[in-house]
Amino acid sequence: MQSKLPHISTSIFTVMSQLAAQHNAINLGQGFPDFPMSPELIECVNKAMKAGGNQYAHTNGVPLLRERLAEKIKFLYNVAINPDTNITITPGGTYSIFCAFSTIIQPGDEVIIFEPAYDSYIPNIIFNGGIVVPIELEFPEYSIPWDKLRAAITPKTKAILVNTPQNPTGVVFTKEDILQLQEIVLSNNLYLISDEVYEHLIYDNKLHETVMKYPDLFARTFVCFSFGKTYHCTGWKLGYCVAPENLMKEYRKIHQFNAFGCDTPKQIGIAEYMTNKEAYLSIGAMYEQKRDYLRGLLDNTKFVRLPSSGSYFESYRYDTISNEPDKVFAERLVKEFGIAIVPMSAFYQKATDHKVIRLCFAKTKETLDAAAACLQKVH
Ligand SMILES: Cc1ncc(COP(=O)(O)O)c(C=O)c1O
Repeated sequence: MQSKLPHISTSIFTVMSQLAAQHNAINLGQGFPDFPMSPELIECVNKAMKAGGNQYAHTNGVPLLRERLAEKIKFLYNVAINPDTNITITPGGTYSIFCAFSTIIQPGDEVIIFEPAYDSYIPNIIFNGGIVVPIELEFPEYSIPWDKLRAAITPKTKAILVNTPQNPTGVVFTKEDILQLQEIVLSNNLYLISDEVYEHLIYDNKLHETVMKYPDLFARTFVCFSFGKTYHCTGWKLGYCVAPENLMKEYRKIHQFNAFGCDTPKQIGIAEYMTNKEAYLSIGAMYEQKRDYLRGLLDNTKFVRLPSSGSYFESYRYDTISNEPDKVFAERLVKEFGIAIVPMSAFYQKATDHKVIRLCFAKTKETLDAAAACLQKVH
């Protein structure tokens, strides 16, 4: 069979998680919480199932859930979103992004992404017949090289994908970043896909700059979210896309004949639970505490921390410890020290290696203690 994705191999998260399991290692590799989610939310879903909410949901998503999301967006960002025409519930954030690519990419279209990048973007673009144009964030701040972005735009450029707070770097966009982006998107008639799955995981008194707050830019944007990240239930694979009506109309044609709809009881359960604003308002402080706790534990090691103000992740340089390529170093950490992390080169198409590892701090205190005990021994 001729492969549609000949250069794509098993995701680094699967590889590292398998290696962690084989060696019985602490896993700070894949980004998922190892603490329980809300029992109240589980109860809401149970209730929905018992009440018979088990058949196909509306293809755009359970109406009450879309209404609650529109209320939340108004409350958080003071933006008016129409639940009927602007929101579609999707089976996860990744699918939401995939559908946006499918909606806009025609064969040969170029799509710009920033690297290091979450690993689904590249295969998604290629699968949809697009050409990936990666731009590397400036190391070590991981800032956006605006000149390089402007220079990368050609008549074939169709879209840019941005991700704030960013996985894997934890970099957060400022208002100035969005304004620069807006100027570039509008003056070149591009589309934007804004991956905002970590909207609540933001620290150091920073505020999430959603593209929805910028009407001219939002007019050309698909904004993608994940309930898995917000409610500590990544295995539920439930998310949503928010877009202007004309874009959403096309998006729904793709979604309708892929997943068609999403898990009904979970949508009903989340809709009920969403009246509890504290559940999402408290997430930032909770994760910030975890980030700072891990920082404290690693302060006296030779690892050198890179800045992170968002997401589940923080990155560390290890060139004060070793010159090994990051994948070799990552393997050695699992085998010799019992700790799994992700080598940063895995997030670059060209496997750019700055000797950096990414750690996930969405873990219990016990896991962070055990992980730090392993990392403190690394020499
Ligand atoms: C940047 C980014 N976007 C999207 C997703 C996917 O979200 P979901 O699990 O809802 O598909 C992830 C998950 O790790 C992510 O890190």
